Amino acid sequence: MVKQICLFVLVFTFLLIFFNSILFSDDEPCVQCHIKISPGQVADWRTSQHFEEGITCSTCHGEEHNSKENVNLVQFPDEHVCGECHDTQFEQFKKGKHNFGWTSLNALPVTHVEPDELMEGGRGCGGCHNMGIKTEAQKKELREKGYRYQNNSCDECHTRHSFSKKEAQDPRACQQCHMGYDHPQWEMWSSAKHGTRWFAKENGRLPKEAAAPSCQNCHLPNGTHENRTAWGFLGVRLPLPENPQWAADRITILKALGVLNPETGKPTPRLEIVKAVDMARLTDEAWQKERDKMIETCNKCHSKLYAQEQLEMGDAIMKKADRLLAQAIDIVADLYKDDILKKPDNYSFAYPDFLYFMRTGSGNLKQASYIEQVLFQMYMKHRMRTYQGFFHVNPDYAYWYGWAMMTKDLGEIRELAETMRVTYKLKK
Ligand code: HEC
Ligand code: HEC
Ligand code: HEC
Ligand code: HEC
Ligand code: HEC
Ligand code: HEC
Ligand code: HEC
Ligand code: HEC
Repeated sequence: MVKQICLFVLVFTFLLIFFNSILFSDDEPCVQCHIKISPGQVADWRTSQHFEEGITCSTCHGEEHNSKENVNLVQFPDEHVCGECHDTQFEQFKKGKHNFGWTSLNALPVTHVEPDELMEGGRGCGGCHNMGIKTEAQKKELREKGYRYQNNSCDECHTRHSFSKKEAQDPRACQQCHMGYDHPQWEMWSSAKHGTRWFAKENGRLPKEAAAPSCQNCHLPNGTHENRTAWGFLGVRLPLPENPQWAADRITILKALGVLNPETGKPTPRLEIVKAVDMARLTDEAWQKERDKMIETCNKCHSKLYAQEQLEMGDAIMKKADRLLAQAIDIVADLYKDDILKKPDNYSFAYPDFLYFMRTGSGNLKQASYIEQVLFQMYMKHRMRTYQGFFHVNPDYAYWYGWAMMTKDLGEIRELAETMRVTYKLKK
C-alpha cells in the first residue's frame, strides 16, 4: 500500500512538472540556462502575469542568442514590442508628456556639456529622462556611444521582470523621479494631508474605503497613460496675461529661458523646441482643458467651488513669485549690460540663460558666476517649490522652502550686484 502511494505521488509529481513546463514554457532553453546565470531574474519573471500567460524570455528578447558566445545577438524590446500586445497603453503613453522625456532632455544646451555617464549612461539626467519612445536616430546615438540599454520606458513604473500593475499604482513608483531639487512632488505629497491619509490607509489605520488621493488618481486618472498638467514644469504659458505687470514679468522670464530675444523681444529658435516637446501650453484652450480635468478629479472628493478656489490661489502665487523672479533677472541682466558680467561663448545673448543650468565649466563653457548660480537656484529650486508646494497642498514647501527662500535670494542678488559694481569701479 505504502509502495503504491509512493508510486502514485511520484507519477503525479512528474506529470505536474511535465505539464507545468509545457503550459508555462519553463523548459525554454533561455530559462534553463538563465536559472543558473541570473536566478533572481527568472524568479521575478515567474511572479508576473506574463509567466501565467506563457510569455517568455524569447517573446521579448528574440531567439538568436542561445549561448554565452553570442550574447551580442540578444534583442532589447522597446515600447513598440510591449505595444504589440498593449496598444491601448502604448497609444495613451505616446500622447502624454512622459513620451517627451528623452527628447526634451536632449533639446537642452546643458546636456551636451555634461559627462555622458550622467546622460546616456542612465544616471543623473538620463536616469529619470529615460522616458519616451526613442527615434531610430536617438537609438543609434546611444549605441554609437557604447550604451546598450535604456531601450524601454514602460519598465520605469512597472519594473522588469515582474511587470506588475499593482506596483505602478503605488505612488512610490513615481517617487524615484518626482523628488528632489526642482520637483519634490514626492516630498510635498507624502508629508501633506493627501499623502498622510494614503499611508494611513496603507497601514490599516483608515479603512480601505477612506478617501486619499495618490499621484495616479490625480495625474493618470482611470488608468490612462497620458499625462499633462495646465502649468507644466516651467510654469510659463501663452498667451500673456492681461495684468500688465504680470505680462511684463513673464516676458522677462521667457527671455531668461532664451525663448524670447532679450534685445528685440521676438521669439528665438528655442521657442520652436519648446513647442515641439509640448513644454508649455500655448493657448487658453489648451491650458483650460487640463485645468478642467483636474477640477473634475478634485470634485470626486471636494466641492467644485473649493477645488476651483484652491487652484486659483495657486495661479495667484505664481504671479507673485514671478514678480520676485523678474526683479532678480533684471538686476543680473543689468550687470551684463554694463559689462560687469561677460557673455560666455556658448550664450546667444549677453543675458542670463536658465537653460545652461549651473554651468559646470566643462568644455569651453565658463563656470557660472556666483550671482548667476543664486539666480538659477531662485528659479529652479525656490520658484518651483513655491507653486508646486501650493498645488500639492504642502504648507511648508510653499512658504519656507519656496517663497521665503525666493525673498532671501532676491536680497542676496541685490547685495552681490552692489558689491560687484563697487569692485568693478575700483579695478578700473
Ligand atoms: C547556454 C546558456 C544561455 C542560454 C541558452 C541563453 N542565454 Fe542569455 N545569456 C547567457 C549568458 C552567459 C549571458 C551573459 C550574462 C552576463 O553577462 O552576466 C546572457 C545574457 C543575456 C541577456 C542580457 C544581455 C546583456 O547585454 O546584458 C539577455 C537579455 C538574455 N541573455 C536573454 C536570453 C534569451 C531570451 C534566451 C533564449 C532565447 C537566452 N538568453 C538563452 C547565457 C544563455
Ligand atoms: C515582457 C517582455 C520581457 C520578458 C518576457 C523578458 N524580458 Fe528581459 N528585459 C525586458 C526589458 C524591457 C529589458 C530592458 C531593456 C533595456 O533596458 O534596454 C530587459 C532586460 C533584460 C536583461 C538585461 C538587464 C539586466 O537586468 O540584467 C536580461 C539579462 C534579461 N532581460 C533577461 C531575461 C530573461 C532571462 C527572461 C526570461 C526569464 C526575460 N528577460 C524575459 C523585457 C522582457
Ligand atoms: C506577446 C504579448 C505581450 C507582450 C509582448 C507584452 N505583454 Fe504585457 N501582458 C500580456 C498579457 C496577455 C497580459 C495579461 C493581462 C492582460 O491580458 O492584459 C499582460 C499583462 C501585463 C501587465 C499587467 C500585469 C498585472 O499585474 O496585472 C503589465 C503592466 C504589462 N503586461 C506590461 C508589459 C510591458 C511593459 C511589456 C513590454 C516590455 C509587455 N507587457 C509585453 C501580453 C504581453
Ligand atoms: C523614470 C522617471 C519617471 C517616473 C518613474 C515617473 N515620471 Fe513623471 N515625468 C518624468 C519626466 C522626465 C517628466 C518630464 C517629461 C518631459 O520632458 O516632458 C515627467 C512628467 C510628468 C508629468 C507632466 C508634468 C507637466 O509638465 O505637465 C506628470 C503629471 C507626471 N510626470 C506624473 C507622474 C506620475 C503620476 C508618476 C507615477 C505613476 C510618474 N510621473 C512617474 C519622469 C518620471
Ligand atoms: C530625479 C530625476 C531627474 C533628474 C536627475 C533630472 N530630471 Fe529633468 N525632470 C524630471 C521630472 C520628474 C520632470 C518633470 C517635473 C515637473 O513637471 O514638475 C523633469 C523636467 C525636465 C524638463 C522640462 C520638461 C518639460 O517638458 O516641461 C527638462 C528640460 C529637464 N527636466 C531637463 C533635465 C536635465 C538637463 C537634467 C540634468 C541636468 C535633468 N532634467 C535631471 C526628472 C529628473
Ligand atoms: C508613469 C508610470 C507608468 C508608465 C511609464 C507606464 N505605465 Fe502602465 N500602468 C501604470 C499605472 C499607474 C497602471 C494602473 C492603472 C489602473 O489603475 O488601472 C498601469 C497599468 C498598465 C497595464 C494594466 C492594464 C490593466 O488594467 O490591466 C498595462 C498592460 C500597462 N500599464 C502597460 C504599459 C505599457 C505598455 C507601457 C509603456 C508604453 C506602460 N504601461 C508605461 C503606470 C505606468
Ligand atoms: C490631489 C491631487 C494631486 C495629487 C495627489 C498629486 N498631484 Fe501633482 N499636481 C496636482 C495639481 C493640481 C497640479 C497643478 C496643475 C496645474 O498646473 O494647474 C499638479 C502638478 C504636478 C506636476 C507638474 C509640476 C508641478 O508640480 O506643478 C507634476 C510633475 C506632478 N504634479 C506630479 C505629482 C506626483 C509625482 C505626485 C505624487 C507624489 C502628485 N503629483 C500628487 C494635483 C495632484
Ligand atoms: C480621493 C479624494 C480626494 C481628491 C481627489 C482630492 N482630495 Fe483634497 N483632501 C482629501 C481629504 C480626505 C482631505 C483631508 C480633509 C481634511 O483636511 O480634514 C483633503 C484635504 C485637502 C485640502 C486641505 C489641506 C489642509 O491642510 O487643510 C486641500 C486644500 C485640498 N484637499 C485640495 C485638493 C485639490 C485642489 C484637489 C484636486 C487637485 C484635491 N484636494 C483632490 C481628499 C481628496
